Amino acid sequence: MEKNTHMILAMDVTDREEALKIAEDVQEFVDAIKVGYPLILATGLDIIRDLAEFAPVIADFKVADIPNTNRLICEQVFEAGADAVIVQGFTGRDSLDACIEIASEYGKDVFVVSEMSHPGGAEFMQPIAEAIAKMALEARAFGLVAPATRPERVKEIRKIIRDRLTIISPGVGAQGGKASDVIAAGADWVIVGRSIYKAESPKEAAREIAEEIQAELGGK
Ligand code: C5P
Repeated sequence: MEKNTHMILAMDVTDREEALKIAEDVQEFVDAIKVGYPLILATGLDIIRDLAEFAPVIADFKVADIPNTNRLICEQVFEAGADAVIVQGFTGRDSLDACIEIASEYGKDVFVVSEMSHPGGAEFMQPIAEAIAKMALEARAFGLVAPATRPERVKEIRKIIRDRLTIISPGVGAQGGKASDVIAAGADWVIVGRSIYKAESPKEAAREIAEEIQAELGGK
C-alpha cells in the first residue's frame, strides 16, 4: 500500500451505488478504502473488486477464529480482490500465523487490531494491546490497528514496533480523534468514515482532512 495521502476511507455505507460514487469522488485523497460487514453484507463480496478500481481495498473482517477457519476466510477475502485484511490478535499466534501464511501466498497484507477505538476498547483490549503489538511484530504482520481516539496509545504502540510495522488508526472525526494529532503520534494512515461519507460533500470533507495531514507532515 502506497503512502501518499496518509488517509484511508472507512466505507460503511450500505448502498452499492452510493459507495461507488463516494469512491470516485474521494479517490484522489485516499490511499485505500476499508470495507467491512455493513457494506459487504448489504451488497455482496463483489463490491471489493468494484471499489478496487478506485483504490486498494482493505477488508475489515476483524478475523477472529481458529487457524483453519481464519485460513479459509482469508482465502475468500484475497480471491475477492482485497489488498489487505484486518484480523484480531487476541485469538493468539497460531490464528494470526494462519492469516499471514495465506496473505503471503497471495502477496497481500495483514493488519492486526491491537486495541479498538471506542470507549469499550479500553475495557478488555487495552491491557493486552502491547502484547498483541509484540506478537504482530514477531509474526511479521504488515501493520497494526491502533486508536486515533487515544493518540498516546498510538505513541506507545509505535515505541514497541519502532518502524518495523505500519499503524493504521481509526476514530478520526465522528469518534473524536483529530487526524493531525494521530499522524504526529506516529500513525502511518488515519482511517476516516462518517466524517467523510456522511458529509454534504464527501470530496470536500476528504480534501480538508488530507490538507490537515499534509500540513502536519510539512511542519516536521
Ligand atoms: O465512522 P468512523 O470514522 O468512526 O469509522 C471508523 C471505522 O474504523 C469503522 O469502520 C470501524 O468499524 C473501524 N474500526 C474502529 N476501531 C478499530 C478497528 C476498526 O473504529 N479498532
